[in-house]
Amino acid sequence: MRETTTRISSAEVTRQEEFCEKISELLTAQPKEHLAYVDTYGCQQNEADSERIRGYLKAMGYGFTTDENAADVIVINTCAIREHAEDRVFGNIGALVHAKRRHPGQIICLCGCMAQEPTVTEKIKTSYRHVDLVFGPHALWRFPELLYRVITRRGRVFETPDEAGSIAEGIPVVRQDGVKAWVSIMYGCNNFCTYCIVPYVRGRERSRLPEDVVAECRQLVAEGYKDITLLGQNVNSYGKDLGLEVDFADLLAEIDAIEGDFLIRFMTSHPKDASQKLFDVMGRCKKVAPVFHLPVQAGNDRVLKAMNRVYNRSEYLDKVRRLRQAVPGVVITSDIIVGFPGETTPEFEDTLSLVEEVEYDALFTFIFSPRPGTPAAEMDDPIPMAEKKANFQRLVDTQNAISAKKHAAYVGRTLRCLIDGVCEEEGFALTARTPGNRLVRVKEGGKELIGTFQTIAITGSNTWSLWGELAQA
Ligand code: 5AD
Ligand code: SF4
Repeated sequence: MRETTTRISSAEVTRQEEFCEKISELLTAQPKEHLAYVDTYGCQQNEADSERIRGYLKAMGYGFTTDENAADVIVINTCAIREHAEDRVFGNIGALVHAKRRHPGQIICLCGCMAQEPTVTEKIKTSYRHVDLVFGPHALWRFPELLYRVITRRGRVFETPDEAGSIAEGIPVVRQDGVKAWVSIMYGCNNFCTYCIVPYVRGRERSRLPEDVVAECRQLVAEGYKDITLLGQNVNSYGKDLGLEVDFADLLAEIDAIEGDFLIRFMTSHPKDASQKLFDVMGRCKKVAPVFHLPVQAGNDRVLKAMNRVYNRSEYLDKVRRLRQAVPGVVITSDIIVGFPGETTPEFEDTLSLVEEVEYDALFTFIFSPRPGTPAAEMDDPIPMAEKKANFQRLVDTQNAISAKKHAAYVGRTLRCLIDGVCEEEGFALTARTPGNRLVRVKEGGKELIGTFQTIAITGSNTWSLWGELAQA
């Protein structure tokens, strides 16, 4: 098979660095501190994209702030997955009119998934005239050039090319955290679940080359990062577009072989592509954390079919069984949508019984939100919102009881955890994560322990977290 992914040449990326330098020269001509504010909505993929936007901004000479009034450049990196997320973004962009009035030279940029929706771009063009630059995910790698155009011409720029997508290597990155790092291994999605807008805004699946991913991970380990999460909309189909004999399980094994004491995580996985080979490799690899996010979305076969998920309930449950066999004690989490068009309460109850059968460690639950342009948005939906909300609450209550029970089973155990931050809550000093990524609040301990693995005796739990004390190893 031949490679199908378009790669941006290093000369093109170097050209973007030149735009960073040109902007830097313009900034140095005005002797003051120049600040940028990057506001991120949505998933980890967006967090990872914002790290690249910050990388470019730093190369241009900007410092960072979280105060919109102090910022010379504001970049809002948006999420389109649900209507609620979009409403929040519109509310916040609307409010920026005041910041800009106080700070007339301020440049406001909108990027991310919403920027790629034609209806949103139209609305920004006509009703949010204080937004200077709009660019979609496909144009992110050209952010310096676009910003330069705005700065030098003082005109508005809209760059939302409708394309399948490409891959650019070598963009600078400013990471927010010194312990945990996100590494995108692929972009886009080919699955077209009927409710989901992602394939329309992020384009087709395309994988980074394994050597680029491994080199980035090796560099992160050398810099002291302890927790690396590999990101993609469907990491299990990694490599299919490359025309190489390498799949996601092979990539995991290669990263696992990097010298050093660190953990590897990944998300998200589509159940249809979660293979026995991957489960076996996970079971064998020492550094791959025993945690698997395996979104089921629904437990009823008619609904799964209408969602175009291409697996049924029994196939999903079979994968869970095989995963647990290959990786004993694995923490399993999932995403569920309640109230897909036409989902009746008896159909929803199949989701409930699946949740009871699997006993997830944690769930991310959503009420269906119609996304313009997706097939599900056009489907008949006679079920009243009150019924959907009642079902949603039943699901949350069921999962809360399971989470509380699962967390209680940790009490009395001693686990090697990664200390990842300061705990703001009274009576606790630090936060930590179990290998399965459960939150642990640690009673005592100094900040110098952040970024180290420590043995922690778990002494208590509730629905959402565990707590404990540093123990002698
Ligand atoms: N409505 C509600 N939830 C959605 N998700 C994706 N699209 C929608 C939608 N239109 C959920 C899915 C997915 C998670 C990231 O968001 O559960 O796995
Ligand atoms: Fe959306 Fe489905 Fe792709 Fe996930 S797999 S991003 S839910 S289309």
